Amino acid sequence: MQKRSRDRSTVTNATARGHLLVDVEKLALLAQLTHRSSMTFSVVGSRNGPQGACSSSEKKTLKDHVSLRHHSYTLKRDRHLHESLCLVMKYESAKSPVKEWQKEMKGVPMLHTHICDLLDIKHPIMSAPMSGGIAAAELTAAVSQAGGFGLIGAMTSDGPDWLRAQIREVRERTDKPFGVGFISSFPGLDELVQVALEEHVTAVSHSFADPTPYISSAHAVGVKVIAQVQTVAQAIRGVQAGVDVLVAQGTEAGGHTGYISTLPLVATVVDVARTLPVLAAGGIADGRGLAAMLLLGAQGVWMGTRFYASREAGARAWEKQRMVKAGADETVLIKVYDFTFAYPFPSTIGDRVLGNDYTARWHGHDEDVVAHREELREQVSAAMKEGDVHLAAVRAGNAVGLIHNIESACTIVRQTAAEAESILRERPGQLLR
Ligand SMILES: Cc1cc2nc3c(=O)[nH]c(=O)nc-3n(C[C@H](O)[C@H](O)[C@H](O)COP(=O)(O)O)c2cc1C
Repeated sequence: MQKRSRDRSTVTNATARGHLLVDVEKLALLAQLTHRSSMTFSVVGSRNGPQGACSSSEKKTLKDHVSLRHHSYTLKRDRHLHESLCLVMKYESAKSPVKEWQKEMKGVPMLHTHICDLLDIKHPIMSAPMSGGIAAAELTAAVSQAGGFGLIGAMTSDGPDWLRAQIREVRERTDKPFGVGFISSFPGLDELVQVALEEHVTAVSHSFADPTPYISSAHAVGVKVIAQVQTVAQAIRGVQAGVDVLVAQGTEAGGHTGYISTLPLVATVVDVARTLPVLAAGGIADGRGLAAMLLLGAQGVWMGTRFYASREAGARAWEKQRMVKAGADETVLIKVYDFTFAYPFPSTIGDRVLGNDYTARWHGHDEDVVAHREELREQVSAAMKEGDVHLAAVRAGNAVGLIHNIESACTIVRQTAAEAESILRERPGQLLR
């Protein structure tokens, strides 16, 4: 209860007499929930810009959502206003309309789950620790700064020094909590885990191997342990070993994953987890997915593919464009790139990528791939550099069909949360008569 009222109080902060620092996203929500048509302010500055000036991108965002009349802006009643913009506004009547609206807001529930308290975050949305530099400091910090929980993907060819530098860069960009995620079947794990613990990140995640050996050392320094699981047996093992959070990863997921669908896996893992928070992963890219997973009993979502197609992801433009163009039918669950590069994933784990000429040619010919490994590795590596989508690996889940734009991580977090909130407020009531 305490946390909720603190969240709500961030809607506005008085900055000076007659001035308010206003989060435009929350302002719109207030308008929507209290059924007011408009409210009028003079904008005298922004959080980032100097007093009396907005940057040009802030002005553009503002123009999308408010109309300018004389020297005042009137907030449009837009149900789908999710952009985040903090403006310093001077209210024009004796009474602050925002404060009046806030009074009316009292008692209106906001989306908040157990994972928000556990990780001290605002929205129950995590960005997956995508390896190869995709989820590096920039994406991680942007997600956490937006109120979600970002995780750095620790597995790159650059090792522990790179990881330490990324953790420190996140801290320069934001003071919000974040984590580091490992592919725990890979060599070099111990050194990377040591860096994350020395740096006291909020949480570490282990996937694709038993997390048990890494739990007590993390807990000893106050770091929480998240285990991403692909089967119910792994979930039970995680509960017994004492992990703090389970991620139930369905086969719809982008990249390496198992063979059980997200829906039955999440529901079953929620049952075996009992009081332990469960996050849902695989096939979730918007607020509809988040709302659905919360109704299944998950405490939040863990999204990879959607954040891969974000502005801050450490991926090349052609990869992101390929994701925007791809439909839900275009992914395949294969092992050919793992055989090509001799990646040490368990045999029970597949690799969901966008299908192309390479996957069509080599899928099902594992022994031939291994026999021609050197030559094929060169071809695929060159294709990755050149952006040749016929041969290159682009890891993406079934939710790729829901992605139509490269958005900022902040927009993705806030839009997903706002959409889920709106669905949860309206849809159940519409269904039950
Ligand atoms: C490009 C890419 C790289 C990934 N790399 C990792 C990784 O290094 N470690 C890990 O635990 N999971 C990794 N994953 C899987 C995610 O943790 C997550 O389960 C998955 O993205 C969720 O499904 P979604 O892609 O449909 O959102 C990766 C996923 C993608 C798309």
